[in-house]
Amino acid sequence: MQSIEAILSGRFITAIGKAFGPEYAGDAALKPGDPRHADFQCNAAMALARQLGQPPRKVAETIIQHLAITDMCETPQIAGPGFINLRLLPQWLQQQLSSIAADAAFLSRGAVDAAAEPQTVVVDYAGPNIAKEMHVGHLRSSIIGDTLARTLSFLGHRVVRQNHVGDFGTQFGMLIRHGRDLTLDGGNVAISDLDAYYKQAAQRDKEDPKFAAEARQAVVDLQHGKPEAVKVWHWIVHESRRHCRELFDQLGITLTPADERGESFYKDRLPNVVELLQSALGSGGDGPDDQGANGLPATASEPSEAKVSRAFAAVSDGAVCVFLPGYIDKDKKPLPLIIQKSDGAFLYATTDLAALHFRIIENKLTHEDQAPLNCDWHAERVIYTTDSRQAQHFAMVFDALRAARWDINPVNGRPVRLEHAAFGAILGDDGKPFKTRSGESVKLRDLLAEAVQRADEVLLQKRPDLSAADRHAVAKAVGIGAIKYADLRQDRTTDYVFNWDRMLSFEGNTGPYLQYTYARICSILRKARQEATPAAPAGPIMLAEPQEVALGKKLLAFASAVDSVVRDLRPHHLCHYLYELCGTYSSFYENCPVLKAADAATRQSRLQLCVVTAGVLRVGLQELLGIGVLEEM
Ligand code: ARG
Repeated sequence: MQSIEAILSGRFITAIGKAFGPEYAGDAALKPGDPRHADFQCNAAMALARQLGQPPRKVAETIIQHLAITDMCETPQIAGPGFINLRLLPQWLQQQLSSIAADAAFLSRGAVDAAAEPQTVVVDYAGPNIAKEMHVGHLRSSIIGDTLARTLSFLGHRVVRQNHVGDFGTQFGMLIRHGRDLTLDGGNVAISDLDAYYKQAAQRDKEDPKFAAEARQAVVDLQHGKPEAVKVWHWIVHESRRHCRELFDQLGITLTPADERGESFYKDRLPNVVELLQSALGSGGDGPDDQGANGLPATASEPSEAKVSRAFAAVSDGAVCVFLPGYIDKDKKPLPLIIQKSDGAFLYATTDLAALHFRIIENKLTHEDQAPLNCDWHAERVIYTTDSRQAQHFAMVFDALRAARWDINPVNGRPVRLEHAAFGAILGDDGKPFKTRSGESVKLRDLLAEAVQRADEVLLQKRPDLSAADRHAVAKAVGIGAIKYADLRQDRTTDYVFNWDRMLSFEGNTGPYLQYTYARICSILRKARQEATPAAPAGPIMLAEPQEVALGKKLLAFASAVDSVVRDLRPHHLCHYLYELCGTYSSFYENCPVLKAADAATRQSRLQLCVVTAGVLRVGLQELLGIGVLEEM
């Protein structure tokens, strides 16, 4: 089904159209209601009243006269200035739930319909930098991005996952140069060595000018494809990718090797991108101070406060820059987006512009040496998950893209939706960025191992009866799930404190609590199967007790929670929903005996409510959040 909001909105929009004409039938302004009076509230009457010059309560009455809703809701009530309050009919809830319970395929989707208008969406996430071990900083990008990708594809969108690996750039010069002095070969590079290796190279680069000069030359060698440089680069990249994939596997991240498209992939496109962008934007002479033709007001009396009124490209101090309205540096001077440095080198932004061009416009590979790829994407939406320190970078890249009109989808002619799903930092107990005791950044591998270890200890207390092997399997799901859930449940834009005890607790808004609720339902269903006298056909679901009605409503609100993940890119809405669902289920379970229900029909009905709850929890946790569920724990 669609979300209830969507169904109700549709009904209201039809009614408004009938009552006042199609030009008024835009938005139903439907909101969840105050539970004391309503399940939902339609607030459209007030705005319409202003447009129509009629009293809002009268407008509300007219809407209700044209509203076809008796199958779903009790008689609508008008409240206050013209709010329309709606209560769902228990019969309608019963019908919906009964048909979900009877349809295994639908239940396996948590009863959520696919999107009516599927889109091609590129999700750019994880993006670790090569030659270093992944650290805690890569956690959020990987798991938030993966949840967005999972949810979008669950809804039937065509999702292109992209891991924009930082595998190119000046730091490789020193790595390649340093490699020359080591007995490094493809067979013996290990990621743990690479970390130390990176530090040594950086040290030498800083202290030894001859080394530094040779390192810079090595960058040029790499860019020109000189075999010796490329060989060392390949070893490093290969080992780093192997390491990342190991961690992605542990974390249940759905990126595959085919989704890895490192910065190096775009290297041959960069000169062209700079040229194309310059001609698309038009150049503005020598720089922002060359006033007039370049979009700066010719009359600006104070050049230091000059404002850029339209985007343009210009060479400033030898560097190719894009100037965009609205960006100023700390001296209030126009802040450029640099796309080529004076020494000819390209930057992070250049690669991102090339990647966007590739994702939206280009649909073929320009180089014969590259393996054939199916890149006929023409993205309609592109989402980036990086921390919020890159907010300005993405804002400028998106604006530059728009200024060049490269954001227009070549297939449908519509602007591509470009979004930066920025996130905050993970903090330690001291409120400072999360570090090891010795002040180093926490390696992701160590963090995941510790999570599993700690979960194992918790389980040893709770389930001393489990064999070590069984316990370890549960500990893996619980430990990794706890880390992921603790992150996803936070509004992504805020910082949060990493706390082992809190995230591993079986009580409260935690991964283990949700997993445990799921396992408990499974155990009830197992018992029911064991006890069952030969199957009588399942009757309808009946919602008699208030806790049953509450659970029924909550279950049918799943579609709306899923929608909000892809609408605002905020997985915490879904976490919050699943947590509330578990609470609603618990109070149902406490008040409404299932296995010991008074009669067979009630028992059947309640068992089916358990089945639907388990189905929704499994889809939410496992398929969308990527958190493993267990039938027993
Ligand atoms: N490698 C980058 C970093 O570690 C993240 C890449 C994000 N994606 C992108 N297209 N810029 O900060």
